[in-house]
Amino acid sequence: MHHLFFVILSLIGFLNISYGDWAPKSLTESYHPRYSTVGNPNISPEHDCALRAFTIEMATYIEPTFSKTNWTTLSQSAFQMNQCNGTSHTAYQPSSSDKLFKTAPEIKKGTCHHTVFVHDLKGNNLFDGTFERPMKTIQAALSLTRTLRAVHDSGNTLCITIRGGTYYLGTNATIWSSQIGAIALTSDDSNLVIENYQDERVILSGGTLLQLQWSVHAKTATGGTIMKAQVPPSVNLDQFNELYIDDRRAIVAKYPNGDPSTQGLYAKDPGFSYDSQRWWPPNLNRSVEIHVQEPSRNGTVFTNYQLGLGGGAAVFNPPRNFWSTASPPAGDNYAVPSGLTVKNGALPHISNWSTPTTGFVHAFHSGYWGSWIFEIASINSTQNTIIFGRGGFQEARGSRDGGAFYVANIFEELDSPNEWFLDRDTRTLYFMPNETMPNVFVASQISCLISVSGSGIENPVHNVLIRGLILTQTSSTYMRDYMVPSGGDWAVHRGGTMYLTNTKNVTITRHLFTQLGSNGVALIDFNDATSITLNEFVWLADSAIILVGSTNGIDGFSVASQPANTLIQSNLIHETGIYVKQSSPVLISVSRSVSVIGNLMFNMPRAAINVNDGFYGNHTISWNVLFNTVRETSDHGPINSWDRQPFLTDAVQPGLPSLWQHGSYIHHNTLFNNYRSVWPIDHDDGSCFYEDSYNFQVYGGKKNYLGHSKTDHHEIYVYSDVNGGGFGSNVCLSDYAPTRGSSGWNETWIQNTCVLYQSPVPYNIENCDTANIFVPYLANNKIYIPSGTQVAFTCKVNGSSTRLSLEQWQSYGLDIGTTVQTAPDVQTIIEWGREMLQRTT
Ligand SMILES: *[C@@H]1O[C@H](CO)[C@@H](O)[C@H](O)[C@H]1NC(C)=O
Ligand SMILES: *[C@@H]1O[C@H](CO)[C@@H](O)[C@H](O)[C@H]1NC(C)=O
Ligand SMILES: *[C@@H]1O[C@H](CO)[C@@H](O)[C@H](O)[C@H]1NC(C)=O
Ligand SMILES: *[C@@H]1O[C@H](CO)[C@@H](O)[C@H](O)[C@H]1NC(C)=O
Ligand SMILES: *[C@@H]1O[C@H](CO)[C@@H](O)[C@H](O)[C@H]1NC(C)=O
Ligand SMILES: *[C@@H]1O[C@H](CO)[C@@H](O)[C@H](O)[C@H]1NC(C)=O
Ligand SMILES: *[C@@H]1O[C@H](CO)[C@@H](O)[C@H](O)[C@H]1NC(C)=O
Ligand SMILES: *[C@@H]1O[C@H](CO)[C@@H](O)[C@H](O)[C@H]1NC(C)=O
Ligand SMILES: *[C@@H]1O[C@H](CO)[C@@H](O)[C@H](O)[C@H]1NC(C)=O
Ligand SMILES: *[C@@H]1O[C@H](CO)[C@@H](O)[C@H](O)[C@H]1NC(C)=O
Ligand SMILES: *[C@@H]1O[C@H](CO)[C@@H](O)[C@H](O)[C@H]1NC(C)=O
Ligand SMILES: *[C@@H]1O[C@H](CO)[C@@H](O)[C@H](O)[C@H]1NC(C)=O
Repeated sequence: MHHLFFVILSLIGFLNISYGDWAPKSLTESYHPRYSTVGNPNISPEHDCALRAFTIEMATYIEPTFSKTNWTTLSQSAFQMNQCNGTSHTAYQPSSSDKLFKTAPEIKKGTCHHTVFVHDLKGNNLFDGTFERPMKTIQAALSLTRTLRAVHDSGNTLCITIRGGTYYLGTNATIWSSQIGAIALTSDDSNLVIENYQDERVILSGGTLLQLQWSVHAKTATGGTIMKAQVPPSVNLDQFNELYIDDRRAIVAKYPNGDPSTQGLYAKDPGFSYDSQRWWPPNLNRSVEIHVQEPSRNGTVFTNYQLGLGGGAAVFNPPRNFWSTASPPAGDNYAVPSGLTVKNGALPHISNWSTPTTGFVHAFHSGYWGSWIFEIASINSTQNTIIFGRGGFQEARGSRDGGAFYVANIFEELDSPNEWFLDRDTRTLYFMPNETMPNVFVASQISCLISVSGSGIENPVHNVLIRGLILTQTSSTYMRDYMVPSGGDWAVHRGGTMYLTNTKNVTITRHLFTQLGSNGVALIDFNDATSITLNEFVWLADSAIILVGSTNGIDGFSVASQPANTLIQSNLIHETGIYVKQSSPVLISVSRSVSVIGNLMFNMPRAAINVNDGFYGNHTISWNVLFNTVRETSDHGPINSWDRQPFLTDAVQPGLPSLWQHGSYIHHNTLFNNYRSVWPIDHDDGSCFYEDSYNFQVYGGKKNYLGHSKTDHHEIYVYSDVNGGGFGSNVCLSDYAPTRGSSGWNETWIQNTCVLYQSPVPYNIENCDTANIFVPYLANNKIYIPSGTQVAFTCKVNGSSTRLSLEQWQSYGLDIGTTVQTAPDVQTIIEWGREMLQRTT
């Protein structure tokens, strides 16, 4: 083990961590050290390792003392520190005078007026729910609390306390909706606490435990054994789309082989094929277009509200899509390929596929902005062609072509350990073990475990606390309904493991969401003052936390059906987006005043935090540590925002409808812009009214694209010019296509520190011309360039592009107070970061 390891170990060991029964299995499982790219390939490994070590240290700051997390294992594996050779970097030792990041407060549940106990093994639904005579099921306990409300004051808090055990909510389940949970709270269930008993492990499974009689089906050519078993009639095969074996998602038989949980485009062996030959043209079907002329947003690129209905947008539910219009600014008529022809030999078993229509094709969008999943409608194996059926709606932009792909759920592809296939006609489950047959097989049966659904905005479920549960083993939802929430690139499944709608003051805390087929928490439409704190989310097929509101077209003013005042604090979110690549730990769409504070997020296919629109604004994203984002997609970063679709709200002044939004604040985050991340804070198309400050941003600079009114100050940008490939952030500040009257106005970049690694060019301001200066307001920045280089501010002078010295640049009245110096060593930069992040003012 390396020196740096020991430093990190001792640093982490220093903290008071208690595990008890709580240490989630996921974190003690070994990760697969297969990652092909860590840090940045263009930079010296020593610098990269030092910066990553710094990020780990910052991560420890957000750790609550009662964390369930084994940070030792976590940080070793997450950062792949084994790839850092022994270096002399000394890791930081916190002293008592350091200000630690504020963690989410432990929620006090108040007094339980009455408690109903639940015990899976010893309980009986005919008992009275006392500690000695507990109920058997949570559903029965919920019914009992409703009865008790008749005798207690409805304002009194009732509690359901669950004893340790595994509750298979999927067994004989009758609810299949992804919006109604097996445990379904309604407006009659306000003032309720649902929690685990003390530190007991309460596992809520969305599956059913399978009792199987296995026999050998066949030996494979490579010496493997395919086992088979009959699935009992009580199991609903329609919802059996995930198999969890010994608490881990097993692999739906696929080609190329590989485990989607631990392999993807970030891995040396990605489990995807790049051997497509031709994507079949989309079946174009025009939508009905809605263009709202008034009101419109003056001074922007995206002035008008527009939407396509029906036609190609009919694959979404509801059947509408911002991208289903014919005309720009941002319309290109969403459509996806209708099929795929692969190169000869790229699907070597295709001629043996007996029932190709069981299969799915998982494919990246051609621009790697997300992925699609299609059913297979038919094949022509002599032509190496697959024709797609339903699908392709898992992102909203569409494209004529796809990218890397794999094929899943075809019996003849069951040829590798841990793969399974279910023959629905004969109810036969096939599975290929590695060497010894595992023990516990759980078939997914439902996707939503707990729903909290009020009957309306006027009658929300209120004051509910749900705490301390392990939620796991749900059905996948990637072929369920998706909808397009607003003008970002996203389509989203409006369901989740916990589904909330029409609620007020609901707290979701101290849970482990693990091994899930859907999103973690879905806040849909009106949810006021939801707190999501101190949870861990890991091994999710889709996103962790989604906020999706709705409007009446452009009108979000007279319609309050949006999440508002949400607090997402001190959560640990990683290994998300196993199937759905256009997914994020946190999606914010059509929502008001969301605070995302002090969370740690890493290992995901796309952005960690995606703000899909500028609906109302007033979001705060602070004190988060985000790294290993955008591992499989492109053109994005740890934090992403868009604003292409105007909405009316009262963000500017209460009671006054306006298309302008409230400011949002991004500060004190540590952002490690590695893998395919391009901009640490990607303020993409039209983003406006952001104040970004005191962020420590590694490997990327500031971005403006078609937006305005953003202010950056007191940022530290480290090595923002090493992003390789000639695309994106290779400077401190990129201002794309600024145009008077529509974009790039009221942009401010002051009092920032930017360290360049190899280039002496601080800015890329497109169309810069000293005869007609239209650049962000620049002042009092500290720019550091490599030793032996000469700074060059590039701008047109007398009609031709010129490299200007600082003095020449300042002679045009620009960047007054800015200095240019030689870059210091990485330890000095890290010290700056430490000082900045500990300064809490
Ligand atoms: C935490 O990880 C360390 C290092 O892998 C290991 O020695 C220790 O047993 C783990 N602790 C728990 C509670 O899992
Ligand atoms: C570690 O050392 C090995 C062998 O000397 C070298 O190939 C590798 O590039 C080094 N890696 C880093 C991150 O320094
Ligand atoms: C589920 O249904 C089956 C068949 O109807 C029945 O035998 C079994 O007891 C039920 N299981 C539970 C836990 O209710
Ligand atoms: C085109 O869209 C309309 C409206 O959604 C639908 O009724 C029709 O079947 C579609 N036509 C084709 C060829 O897909
Ligand atoms: C197709 O299946 C047959 C019979 O199992 C086997 O002999 C043959 O190798 C398979 N062909 C391919 C291309 O997988
Ligand atoms: C498959 O393609 C071949 C070659 O083009 C063609 O002859 C055959 O009719 C096709 N089969 C089907 C089922 O369409
Ligand atoms: C199967 O077992 C071998 C040897 O123990 C191990 O190297 C390999 O990782 C295992 N594969 C899977 C998929 O578990
Ligand atoms: C919110 O709910 C909690 C119980 O979870 C309760 O203690 C608190 O008083 C409620 N807050 C308000 C403002 O009603
Ligand atoms: C903005 O959000 C904060 C919470 O972060 C809230 O206190 C404040 O009322 C919100 N302001 C507006 C105008 O919505
Ligand atoms: C300029 O941008 C700042 C935020 O960066 C905002 O507060 C201010 O209102 C904007 N000015 C105008 C005229 O829009
Ligand atoms: C639009 O904004 C420009 C300045 O950005 C202003 O000159 C013009 O009057 C505005 N037009 C309207 C209709 O408000
Ligand atoms: C631009 O033109 C002016 C006047 O013709 C001249 O004084 C100045 O030196 C020129 N600047 C550059 C950088 O060529």
